[in-house]
Amino acid sequence: MPDNAPSDPALNAATAQVLRAQDDKALRPSIAGFFDEATNTVSYVVHDPATKAAAIIDSVLDYDAAAGRTSNGSADRIVEYVEKNVLSVAWVIETHAHADHISAAPYLQQKLGGKLAIGREIVRVQEVFGKLFNAGTDFERDGSQFDHLFDDGDRFTLGTLEGIALHVPGHTPADFAFVIGDAAFIGDTMFMPDFGTARADFPGGDARQLYRSIRRLLRLPEDTRLFLCHDYKAPGRDVYAWETTVGQQRSGNVHVKDGTSEDEFVAMRTARDATLAMPQLIMPSVQVNIRGGRLPEPEDNGVSYIKIPVNAV
Ligand SMILES: [Fe+2]
Repeated sequence: MPDNAPSDPALNAATAQVLRAQDDKALRPSIAGFFDEATNTVSYVVHDPATKAAAIIDSVLDYDAAAGRTSNGSADRIVEYVEKNVLSVAWVIETHAHADHISAAPYLQQKLGGKLAIGREIVRVQEVFGKLFNAGTDFERDGSQFDHLFDDGDRFTLGTLEGIALHVPGHTPADFAFVIGDAAFIGDTMFMPDFGTARADFPGGDARQLYRSIRRLLRLPEDTRLFLCHDYKAPGRDVYAWETTVGQQRSGNVHVKDGTSEDEFVAMRTARDATLAMPQLIMPSVQVNIRGGRLPEPEDNGVSYIKIPVNAV
């Protein structure tokens, strides 16, 4: 660890876990990525080969915004994979409350089981967006829509594999990364080295915090496998990609490689964010995802409605 790095017991524990898994193949998870081209999102099924215990990370519910219709094509690819490999789902995890796609967590839980989990700071996101959508007092802002709330440094198990949750705010206040064996699922922090990093301009986002979270993740061992939540291709690359390593990010990430200062990053991120349009599905996504992926309560005609706040964002 560099001399100036602050003491970080959670990161140290994650580092030790990665090194153990790199030494011992039996401690490494099997990982399948499922890419949704409509939202550029990657969902993962990660499992322990010894016990078949599995976690589903960042699932997607298909949503046709023009028709206001949901469908399960993306989620059913995951169901099929889990059934074909005879996995037993222990966890359904969200790295954060996504603003670009609706989570399929309730559908997958109903089909496959598992505990729905997210970072504890989801309550801050529920507070901000509960107000924006004028959700009323029946919308609880205490994270109770989830089965488990992770704190920084929390350990969990996936069969015989070890996992550690790391709070990595910046894109939103509630972003978490999950280190399982020698692999880290880093959500919306970094993307592929040739594309850079996640935006930090949503309500509650903070570019300075994002830089610190990313530099924290980059203190994991160089060969830690990193799995990203999105890919958009990149200039000169015409295929989608979602797996890289700490070493590759440190030497080549176009926004945060070694040597990029916090102030340089913040200036770049702030300027770039000012040019980005809101994600197409931000309104439906956020109001459903803060409810753990459940649609707003149906009105007295039995229909759920998605609200759009006008001139408020
Ligand atoms: Fe996101």
